[in-house]
Amino acid sequence: MPSARVPVVAMDGVAKTYPGPPPVPALRECTLTIGAAEFVAIVGPSGSGKSTLLNVLGLLDTPSAGTYRLLGASVAELRERERTALRGRAIGFVFQDAYLVAERTAVENVEVPLLYQGVSAAERRRRATALLEELGLSDRVDADARTLSAANDSAWRSPVPS
Ligand SMILES: Nc1ncnc2c1ncn2[C@@H]1O[C@H](COP(=O)(O)OP(=O)(O)OP(=O)(O)O)[C@@H](O)[C@H]1O
Ligand SMILES: [Mg+2]
Repeated sequence: MPSARVPVVAMDGVAKTYPGPPPVPALRECTLTIGAAEFVAIVGPSGSGKSTLLNVLGLLDTPSAGTYRLLGASVAELRERERTALRGRAIGFVFQDAYLVAERTAVENVEVPLLYQGVSAAERRRRATALLEELGLSDRVDADARTLSAANDSAWRSPVPS
Protein backbone atom coordinates (compact mmCIF):
# COMPACT_ATOMS: atom_id res chain seq x y z
CA MET A 1 0.00 0.00 0.00
CA PRO A 2 1.31 3.46 -0.85
CA SER A 3 2.06 5.68 2.12
CA ALA A 4 -0.64 8.27 2.82
CA ARG A 5 1.97 11.04 2.59
CA VAL A 6 3.52 10.05 -0.75
CA PRO A 7 1.23 10.87 -3.69
CA VAL A 8 0.61 8.03 -6.10
CA VAL A 9 1.14 10.40 -9.04
CA ALA A 10 3.15 13.61 -8.77
CA MET A 11 3.79 15.38 -12.07
CA ASP A 12 5.50 18.74 -12.21
CA GLY A 13 5.66 20.63 -15.48
CA VAL A 14 5.42 17.45 -17.54
CA ALA A 15 5.35 18.11 -21.27
CA LYS A 16 5.41 15.90 -24.31
CA THR A 17 6.34 16.95 -27.81
CA TYR A 18 6.27 14.30 -30.51
CA PRO A 19 9.42 14.83 -32.58
CA GLY A 20 7.74 14.77 -35.99
CA PRO A 21 8.56 16.40 -38.35
CA PRO A 22 6.76 18.57 -37.73
CA PRO A 23 7.07 18.49 -33.93
CA VAL A 24 3.71 18.25 -32.16
CA PRO A 25 3.50 19.82 -28.69
CA ALA A 26 0.80 17.40 -27.47
CA LEU A 27 1.07 18.05 -23.73
CA ARG A 28 2.09 21.37 -22.21
CA GLU A 29 3.48 21.75 -18.68
CA CYS A 30 1.11 19.47 -16.83
CA THR A 31 1.26 19.63 -13.05
CA LEU A 32 -0.88 16.97 -11.43
CA THR A 33 -1.00 15.28 -8.03
CA ILE A 34 -3.15 12.23 -7.34
CA GLY A 35 -3.31 10.64 -3.91
CA ALA A 36 -4.17 7.09 -2.87
CA ALA A 37 -7.84 6.15 -3.40
CA GLU A 38 -8.54 9.29 -5.40
CA PHE A 39 -10.68 8.83 -8.51
CA VAL A 40 -9.78 11.21 -11.32
CA ALA A 41 -11.31 11.61 -14.78
CA ILE A 42 -9.37 13.38 -17.54
CA VAL A 43 -11.73 15.04 -20.00
CA GLY A 44 -11.10 17.21 -23.04
CA PRO A 45 -11.69 17.51 -26.78
CA SER A 46 -10.23 15.08 -29.27
CA GLY A 47 -6.54 15.82 -29.79
CA SER A 48 -6.17 17.74 -26.54
CA GLY A 49 -3.59 15.28 -25.19
CA LYS A 50 -5.52 12.88 -22.93
CA SER A 51 -3.95 9.73 -24.36
CA THR A 52 -0.53 11.40 -24.40
CA LEU A 53 -0.92 12.21 -20.69
CA LEU A 54 -2.14 8.71 -19.86
CA ASN A 55 0.69 7.09 -21.83
CA VAL A 56 3.25 9.09 -19.83
CA LEU A 57 1.36 8.49 -16.59
CA GLY A 58 1.19 4.74 -17.29
CA LEU A 59 4.93 4.53 -18.13
CA LEU A 60 4.17 3.62 -21.73
CA ASP A 61 5.90 6.76 -23.01
CA THR A 62 8.48 9.19 -21.67
CA PRO A 63 7.96 12.94 -21.18
CA SER A 64 10.11 15.47 -23.04
CA ALA A 65 10.25 17.81 -20.02
CA GLY A 66 9.29 18.04 -16.38
CA THR A 67 9.48 15.54 -13.54
CA TYR A 68 7.22 12.61 -12.80
CA ARG A 69 7.23 10.64 -9.57
CA LEU A 70 5.12 7.50 -9.36
CA LEU A 71 4.73 6.14 -5.81
CA GLY A 72 7.69 8.30 -4.85
CA ALA A 73 10.00 6.94 -7.57
CA SER A 74 11.48 9.49 -9.97
CA VAL A 75 10.57 7.78 -13.21
CA ALA A 76 13.28 9.40 -15.37
CA GLU A 77 15.97 8.00 -13.08
CA LEU A 78 14.79 4.41 -13.39
CA ARG A 79 16.44 1.91 -15.70
CA GLU A 80 14.22 0.31 -18.32
CA ARG A 81 13.91 -2.90 -16.26
CA GLU A 82 12.90 -0.93 -13.16
CA ARG A 83 10.33 1.06 -15.14
CA THR A 84 8.91 -2.17 -16.50
CA ALA A 85 8.72 -3.69 -13.02
CA LEU A 86 7.05 -0.56 -11.59
CA ARG A 87 4.58 -0.50 -14.48
CA GLY A 88 3.72 -4.15 -13.89
CA ARG A 89 3.23 -3.57 -10.18
CA ALA A 90 1.49 -0.18 -10.11
CA ILE A 91 -0.37 0.35 -13.39
CA GLY A 92 -3.54 -1.22 -14.72
CA PHE A 93 -4.27 0.15 -18.18
CA VAL A 94 -7.59 -0.34 -19.97
CA PHE A 95 -7.04 0.51 -23.63
CA GLN A 96 -9.79 1.71 -25.92
CA ASP A 97 -9.10 -1.32 -28.09
CA ALA A 98 -9.23 -4.64 -26.28
CA TYR A 99 -5.68 -5.87 -27.16
CA LEU A 100 -6.60 -9.38 -26.15
CA VAL A 101 -4.23 -12.21 -27.03
CA ALA A 102 -5.81 -14.19 -29.85
CA GLU A 103 -6.09 -17.99 -29.57
CA ARG A 104 -6.00 -17.69 -25.80
CA THR A 105 -8.99 -18.04 -23.54
CA ALA A 106 -10.55 -15.24 -21.55
CA VAL A 107 -9.01 -16.52 -18.31
CA GLU A 108 -5.56 -16.84 -19.92
CA ASN A 109 -5.82 -13.22 -21.07
CA VAL A 110 -6.66 -12.05 -17.57
CA GLU A 111 -3.65 -14.00 -16.27
CA VAL A 112 -1.09 -12.19 -18.47
CA PRO A 113 -0.05 -9.47 -15.95
CA LEU A 114 0.26 -12.07 -13.21
CA LEU A 115 2.49 -14.15 -15.49
CA TYR A 116 4.89 -11.20 -15.77
CA GLN A 117 4.71 -10.72 -11.99
CA GLY A 118 5.91 -14.29 -11.51
CA VAL A 119 2.74 -15.50 -9.78
CA SER A 120 2.41 -19.32 -9.79
CA ALA A 121 0.15 -20.99 -12.35
CA ALA A 122 -2.34 -22.21 -9.74
CA GLU A 123 -2.58 -18.81 -8.06
CA ARG A 124 -2.91 -17.07 -11.45
CA ARG A 125 -5.82 -19.27 -12.40
CA ARG A 126 -7.49 -18.82 -9.01
CA ARG A 127 -7.26 -15.02 -9.08
CA ALA A 128 -8.18 -14.62 -12.77
CA THR A 129 -11.20 -16.92 -12.42
CA ALA A 130 -12.38 -15.03 -9.34
CA LEU A 131 -12.09 -11.72 -11.20
CA LEU A 132 -14.08 -12.96 -14.18
CA GLU A 133 -16.72 -14.27 -11.78
CA GLU A 134 -16.90 -10.88 -10.08
CA LEU A 135 -17.55 -9.31 -13.50
CA GLY A 136 -20.34 -11.77 -14.34
CA LEU A 137 -18.24 -13.61 -16.93
CA SER A 138 -18.07 -17.04 -15.26
CA ASP A 139 -19.64 -18.64 -18.30
CA ARG A 140 -16.91 -17.26 -20.61
CA VAL A 141 -13.81 -18.25 -18.61
CA ASP A 142 -12.65 -20.77 -21.22
CA ALA A 143 -13.99 -18.94 -24.26
CA ASP A 144 -11.52 -18.06 -27.04
CA ALA A 145 -10.88 -14.33 -26.62
CA ARG A 146 -11.82 -13.73 -30.26
CA THR A 147 -15.40 -14.74 -29.47
CA LEU A 148 -15.85 -12.11 -26.74
CA SER A 149 -18.23 -9.30 -27.55
CA ALA A 150 -15.67 -6.47 -27.55
CA ALA A 151 -13.47 -8.33 -30.02
CA ASN A 152 -12.91 -6.61 -33.35
CA ASP A 153 -10.22 -6.65 -36.02
CA SER A 154 -8.17 -3.86 -34.45
CA ALA A 155 -8.00 -5.78 -31.16
CA TRP A 156 -5.41 -8.28 -32.45
CA ARG A 157 -2.33 -6.10 -32.43
CA SER A 158 -1.22 -7.13 -28.97
CA PRO A 159 2.52 -6.80 -28.26
CA VAL A 160 2.22 -9.81 -25.92
CA PRO A 161 3.51 -12.99 -27.60
CA SER A 162 0.83 -15.67 -27.81
N1 LIG B 1 2.76 9.46 -32.12
C1 LIG B 1 2.40 10.70 -32.42
N2 LIG B 1 3.16 11.47 -33.23
C2 LIG B 1 2.82 12.73 -33.53
N3 LIG B 1 1.72 13.34 -33.06
C3 LIG B 1 0.92 12.63 -32.24
C4 LIG B 1 1.21 11.28 -31.89
N4 LIG B 1 0.24 10.85 -31.04
C5 LIG B 1 -0.62 11.87 -30.90
N5 LIG B 1 -0.21 12.94 -31.60
C6 LIG B 1 -0.86 14.27 -31.65
O1 LIG B 1 -0.83 14.80 -30.33
C7 LIG B 1 -2.02 15.50 -30.05
C8 LIG B 1 -2.69 14.90 -28.81
O2 LIG B 1 -3.14 13.59 -29.16
P1 LIG B 1 -3.82 12.61 -28.11
O3 LIG B 1 -3.96 11.30 -28.82
O4 LIG B 1 -3.05 12.63 -26.84
O5 LIG B 1 -5.24 13.31 -27.89
P2 LIG B 1 -6.54 12.78 -27.14
O6 LIG B 1 -6.96 13.86 -26.19
O7 LIG B 1 -6.27 11.43 -26.54
O8 LIG B 1 -7.58 12.65 -28.33
P3 LIG B 1 -8.85 11.63 -28.50
O9 LIG B 1 -9.96 12.19 -27.63
O10 LIG B 1 -9.18 11.74 -29.95
O11 LIG B 1 -8.41 10.25 -28.09
C9 LIG B 1 -2.86 15.46 -31.32
O12 LIG B 1 -2.57 16.62 -32.03
C10 LIG B 1 -2.31 14.24 -32.04
O13 LIG B 1 -2.48 14.36 -33.42
MG1 LIG C 1 -7.09 9.51 -26.84
